[in-house]
Amino acid sequence: MPRLVVVSNRIADPRKTAAGGLAVALAEVLNNTGGMWFGWSGKVIEPSAGGKAGEGEVHTQQAGAVKLVTVDLAREDYDAYYVGYSNGVLWPVFHYRLDLADFDAGYIGGYRRVNQLFARKLAPLLQPDDVIWVHDYHLIPLAAELRALGCQQRIGYFLHIPLPPPLILAAIPGHDWLVRGLCSYDLVGFQSEADHQHFCRYIQSEAGAQDVGGGRWRVFNRTVHAGAYPIGIDVDEFAAVTQAPEAREMYERMRREYSRRKLLVGVDRLDYSKGLPHRLKAFRELLQKYPETHKSATLIQIASPSREDVSAYSDILHELESLCGSINGNFGELDWMPVRYMHRTVARARLPGLYRASRVALVTPLRDGMNLVAKEFVAAQDPEDPGVLVLSRFAGAAEQLKEALLVNPYDKEGTAGAIQVALQMPLEERRQRHQALLANCKRFDVHWWCDTFLDTLRTAQAEESGTP
Ligand code: G6P
Repeated sequence: MPRLVVVSNRIADPRKTAAGGLAVALAEVLNNTGGMWFGWSGKVIEPSAGGKAGEGEVHTQQAGAVKLVTVDLAREDYDAYYVGYSNGVLWPVFHYRLDLADFDAGYIGGYRRVNQLFARKLAPLLQPDDVIWVHDYHLIPLAAELRALGCQQRIGYFLHIPLPPPLILAAIPGHDWLVRGLCSYDLVGFQSEADHQHFCRYIQSEAGAQDVGGGRWRVFNRTVHAGAYPIGIDVDEFAAVTQAPEAREMYERMRREYSRRKLLVGVDRLDYSKGLPHRLKAFRELLQKYPETHKSATLIQIASPSREDVSAYSDILHELESLCGSINGNFGELDWMPVRYMHRTVARARLPGLYRASRVALVTPLRDGMNLVAKEFVAAQDPEDPGVLVLSRFAGAAEQLKEALLVNPYDKEGTAGAIQVALQMPLEERRQRHQALLANCKRFDVHWWCDTFLDTLRTAQAEESGTP
């Protein structure tokens, strides 16, 4: 079996539980296969400490069967590549928020420089038959940079966030360079069929790509495969964590504390794409329209701090704090506060207990690649008395989790109505919906995701080289 080399901006020690999302999924994959995980060390070197553009120090560490290789970034590179281009341009535009994009021409140079740096540090560590799997929007040009250094290995790419329609993508100065970068991979994977279709439409209309069948395109004088590979979770592992002491303790505590109330839960990074103010407004609408929810429903909203050096993130923080304050001020009683808001990260080992104790999960992003909280909530439920998932139709997960209550998060009244339906849903219907959702999460789990993607990448390799 060829060695798997995973490359992502954020990496984590796969032996420890990471904070969520991409890092958790990749840790899961690498724990099974072994191999190398290459990415940013999380360290920024200040100029006073000798930080020189493009000269990242490399650290190597063995973590079980996985070799972790990380690179430090100089302040100037970090600011342009991570804060500026990745999170100030690509993140907002890919989440359909042109209004929040900061198209500063200086950022793209730093983005390219760090991709070149990663390529330079990674190339000498590669073996000829390695399979390389690059992840997410920080590293779109990496394959092209590796190829420029003579790397012949097959390279796959997975985008964890949405890909917007061609006309939105085309608002990015240099969008053609970005897409050409994507087409330097052998296989490009998206979270949803909608994202995949956006890619196909873009390369057809902007680059004259020819559909050569089997998910393959002829474009920029090469063949690229593309498809939807929705990411999943390790359902069995998550169910086991739900039974572990930390989660059980959390579950018992929540059940005791809220024995007379129904708990609603939201767990998100504090990010404008997550639709948190919209969610709070829908919850306020619920309290206004259905007075029977007073004292009987409590929303626990955890918003973990994220990307605080990007300005759009501090604006949302203030909006959220003021909304929570006004809801509690207007509706709260001496013995009941409608919203419990925490701007903090909760240990991942405790979250399943919170999910299991909750009657309703609110996963209502304005736009999301997939959203694994939705799947984790499903996996943590007691099948005999499961909670209800209220899910935004704009999360990638909505293409799969059709038995959730799907909502339009921009529609405050509609969302409030769906929350009320969720709170009132009879046990039998809750069980039926949960059973179907769980079956989907089990069928399309993280192993399915990884195996399907890597099998396609290997097949792509065999087809191209003519080997059976
Ligand atoms: C999303 C992105 C990941 C990213 C994570 C946390 O899930 O798709 O690439 O690692 O958010 O964000 P951060 O900026 O802290 O890495």
